[in-house]
Amino acid sequence: MSFDFTPAGTLQIVACILFIVGLKMMGRPTSARAGNAVSAAGMLLAVLAAVFTTGISWPIVIVASIVGGAAGGVLAVKVRMTAMPELVAVFNGLGGLASMAIGVIELRLEATGAVNASIAAAAVIVGGVAFTGSLVAFAKLGGHMTQKAMTFPGQLATTAVVTLLTIVAAVLAVAIEASDLVVVALGVLSLVVGVLAVVRIGGGDMPVVVSLLNSYSGVAAALAGLAIGSPVLVVAGTLVGAAGLMLTQVMCKAMNRSLGNVLFAGFGGATATTGGGGTTEGTVRPISASDTYILLEAAREIVIVPGYGMAVARAQHVVKELAVLLEANGARVRFVIHPVAGRMPGHMNVLLAEAGVPYEQLAEPHDVNPSMEAVDVALVIGANDIVNPDAKDEPSSPLYGMPIVEINRASNVIVLKRSMNTGFAGVQNSLFFRPNTRMLFGDAKESIGAVNAEFED
Ligand code: TAP
Repeated sequence: MSFDFTPAGTLQIVACILFIVGLKMMGRPTSARAGNAVSAAGMLLAVLAAVFTTGISWPIVIVASIVGGAAGGVLAVKVRMTAMPELVAVFNGLGGLASMAIGVIELRLEATGAVNASIAAAAVIVGGVAFTGSLVAFAKLGGHMTQKAMTFPGQLATTAVVTLLTIVAAVLAVAIEASDLVVVALGVLSLVVGVLAVVRIGGGDMPVVVSLLNSYSGVAAALAGLAIGSPVLVVAGTLVGAAGLMLTQVMCKAMNRSLGNVLFAGFGGATATTGGGGTTEGTVRPISASDTYILLEAAREIVIVPGYGMAVARAQHVVKELAVLLEANGARVRFVIHPVAGRMPGHMNVLLAEAGVPYEQLAEPHDVNPSMEAVDVALVIGANDIVNPDAKDEPSSPLYGMPIVEINRASNVIVLKRSMNTGFAGVQNSLFFRPNTRMLFGDAKESIGAVNAEFED
């Protein structure tokens, strides 16, 4: 497999360059949109190159592109921001299925020697796991099946046995060329491994799993590319595989969980911690919207920490309005974004960007934590785990070791949430019981709306 300088080969080289440049541009919020467009242009060139090199008839390609493009466009426009991980799961699954199909065809029809057949068999396995694993992730994220980690006695052993049988089927598929039965068995077993691997993971961990499956779908594509000798598929697959794996690592680190813990611990099932580990001594002090206004009105240094509850309440626009009012009042306002705030990577960044919060106003915990004592008011909008001081101070807490936004050291903390319910990790938050904390109970959008009304009055 190599690049050549025919028109089709040149198109493939340009497509690969555009993929790499586009991915690099996606690393910064300011250039991310343009990066997406650059990568999409690369994909168009890759499709054209595939038509030239394979000689597929143009009408088929045009109809398929229109149908696929229209379906993707409609989905992308219609999907709610909070449902984005589900959409990504579907895309990953379809990518895995496509690579699996290429592997099966290559194994059955065109395998040229053991090495090529082995690569095709690997594409079937990884693609199959990515496909059904993504379908389970989609079902869990969308509430189409229980969000709980589904575990049963001997589950890990069952998964290990099925995985072993899959490998045996792969070896046989390579060794016994032309056996339909073995190839079918290989495909079916790979699909079963995907289901077994993901059902035992709780719904809350699905964003991490989706990121990992994204990586698998990339690896499957790279393998399929190797099997059919397509350099552009190898490059695109490798980029997706590496990016997915890096994102998975970043998410695990920010949650202070190992990948092994996410995949095998059954977090979010019957064994998940609920309510334990937190220090809940002290008194909960509610505050009204008008008293919140009085505190904010006098504050000069303010940090806003958004969390999952801001997404649920769809409060980003009123939060942006509040920030504008506070700045007009002479305060410095910064939004502190924790890497795992919300339920998907970049969740808060996307919501705040949608509301028009300037990128320069966003800060990361390590930018703000060292000078937290200088903050007059820290406003927590529907966040919980990411501001839990037990993650730093309480070794018995399940969150212990997770980096947090250390707002407990600010002069005043105002937490907006509806009740004393726990967040994703299911642990109580000692922040809510501290003397410098006030709780503004209610839906975040309504509460902020009431504070804004006080300002405007
Ligand atoms: P959480 O700890 O889940 O807390 C969210 C809080 O929002 C809840 O305590 C809830 O309290 C409140 N809330 C819900 N609806 C609300 C509404 N309408 N108005 C006001 N408050 C509302 O969220 P977080 O602090 O953002 O932390 C994220 C968690 O998710 C972490 O544990 C993280 O590890 C996990 N996680 C994140 C990701 C990614 S990539 N972001 C992926 C997997 C897991 P009430 O019910 O009392 O209102």
